[in-house]
Amino acid sequence: MCGIIGYIGHRNVVNVILSGLTNLEYRGYDSAGLALRDGSDIKVYKTLGKLVNLKNELEARKSELYNVTCGIGHIRWATHGSPSLVNAHPHSCTCGKLVVVHNGIIENYKELREELIKKGCEFKSQTDTEVIAHLVANEYSKAKNLEMAIQNSVAKLQGAYAICVMHKDVPDLIIGARKHAPMLIGVGDGENFIASDTPAIIEYTKKTIYLDDNEIAIVTKDSVKIKDINGEEIDKKIEILPWEPIALSKLGYKHFMLKEIYEQPDVIRNVLNGKIYDIDEPIILNEVKLDKETIRNLKKIEIIACGTSLHVGLVAKYVLEDFTGISVEVEASSEYIYRKTTTDSSTLVIGVSQSGETADTITAIKQAKAKNAHVLIVTNRPDSNMARLADSLIPVNAGIEVSVAATKSYIAQLVSFYLLGIYMAEVKGTLDSDYLKNLKHEIIQLPTKVEEILSCTNSIQTCAKKFSSFKNFIFIARGVNLATAYEGALKLKEVSYINATGYAAGELKHGPIAMLDETMPVLSILMSGGITYEKVLSNSEEAKARNAKLIALTSSNDEKLDSLFDVVLRVPQVREILSPIIACVPCQLLAYYIAEFLGKDVDQPRNLAKSVTVE
Ligand code: M6R
Repeated sequence: MCGIIGYIGHRNVVNVILSGLTNLEYRGYDSAGLALRDGSDIKVYKTLGKLVNLKNELEARKSELYNVTCGIGHIRWATHGSPSLVNAHPHSCTCGKLVVVHNGIIENYKELREELIKKGCEFKSQTDTEVIAHLVANEYSKAKNLEMAIQNSVAKLQGAYAICVMHKDVPDLIIGARKHAPMLIGVGDGENFIASDTPAIIEYTKKTIYLDDNEIAIVTKDSVKIKDINGEEIDKKIEILPWEPIALSKLGYKHFMLKEIYEQPDVIRNVLNGKIYDIDEPIILNEVKLDKETIRNLKKIEIIACGTSLHVGLVAKYVLEDFTGISVEVEASSEYIYRKTTTDSSTLVIGVSQSGETADTITAIKQAKAKNAHVLIVTNRPDSNMARLADSLIPVNAGIEVSVAATKSYIAQLVSFYLLGIYMAEVKGTLDSDYLKNLKHEIIQLPTKVEEILSCTNSIQTCAKKFSSFKNFIFIARGVNLATAYEGALKLKEVSYINATGYAAGELKHGPIAMLDETMPVLSILMSGGITYEKVLSNSEEAKARNAKLIALTSSNDEKLDSLFDVVLRVPQVREILSPIIACVPCQLLAYYIAEFLGKDVDQPRNLAKSVTVE
């Protein structure tokens, strides 16, 4: 979704802002813009589409710029008003002296807009953001102090905002403010940054101050002051970012998505590191702050998440129920919020989110907290809003994920749930010790098994070419891999725009079978050694009888599969409950290679955003 960077300091301001926006590009956007203080002027540049257009525009107009000392930049993912130049940020007040960039949604913007029009403000765009420009300018005309104007203005805003403001009459000052949308300060030497997310600043500084809700940052090149909305100064801690700039490089891979798929063995090792060190010893999960008695008395677990993280939750249901005997409900956050849930203090609510900023999940988590549930967050962003709401926090440490399509964060979240399940089972005594030892032993082998898949992807690439011209796909599975079917279909849809749907294999004959013919390939997930293999095989035969082209994703060496299926993708054998870790990898690769073969924008699929910060 939208991204913000503000910079004031000794470097080339245009370059810093453009590189900051480039590092936020992965979030998804449809226009970009920046405002620069050049001498006593403020100059605004905006373009539609990709950032390269803004770069070209600035290159063409660089002779107009003389002495740029600070600036604010933005990439916009349209919410209010179409993606157009007039709706792109920065927005200005009527006289053009004040500029603002904004992430979030102002819910009372219509009322404010009417009031401001009555006061003579001239609106140019359809955005909710433009009200902020006029509102602050209006307050500034009364207070003659930008800081106070912002304090007075944010008090009138309802909804979510992270804003950066500059004013022509207040040289060399950028003010930021936030409520329900992330914002941080990058602290430098003779320079400072304001950004909506860490990748925007990581090239320049690791020293960060995270703004909390209702805080305002007053930033010059030599100072950063954080105040509350009453103007009281707050003493904030400087934190050191855990990321390295190298995380934002493709390291020779054609796309971040492929690089991140290949990082997965190490990502799994990272998750296991320090938690399983000896199969005879209990799992160490200090992050879980529930005492053992509470774990023993838990009545229910609710998992809330969206998209790929929701699929993690669906796997986790099988794992946690199997390992602990506790009943688990899984629901899309955007639906959970409409239910009168039976959540109470004996419920463990788990929010799953790679970004930790997904608005629907944050709302659902707040609802669960209000019902006194213990909230555990599983996320790749321990610095996120969601992490700050957590009673317990499991950071999955997958490293920054740049590709919009989640891959390594998915596998890291999955592995974290296996560890959580074992931890709880050890507290409750629900699994016998031999089973536990074997399970841990197999979990430790997982990185090597994923490496085996990644070391030979020829058959997946050939399959991708063969099937790239199909317009529709069905993925089927049963049991713990039903979520793998959903996730495989989602990945394919996201990056290749091919219509793909995951179905419980048993449901095929209750409706979807009507769609089957030679134009509708079916990918069956057949993990051997468990209770679902034979049944999924029968369902695949039913599909074959309707002339569907068949792909098997299997850990079985049974040769009869080669005559039934058009393509057989083989993966290493693991016990069925662990197989989603193995089965998800070929699904990711298939989606990647089909999209790459079709020439799609793999890392930044159209219309998608990495952090979905609006409900
Ligand atoms: O950051 P989150 O995990 O909360 O994001 C949830 C979904 O928006 C996300 O998983 C989305 O489905 C991705 N595009 C998956 O590739």
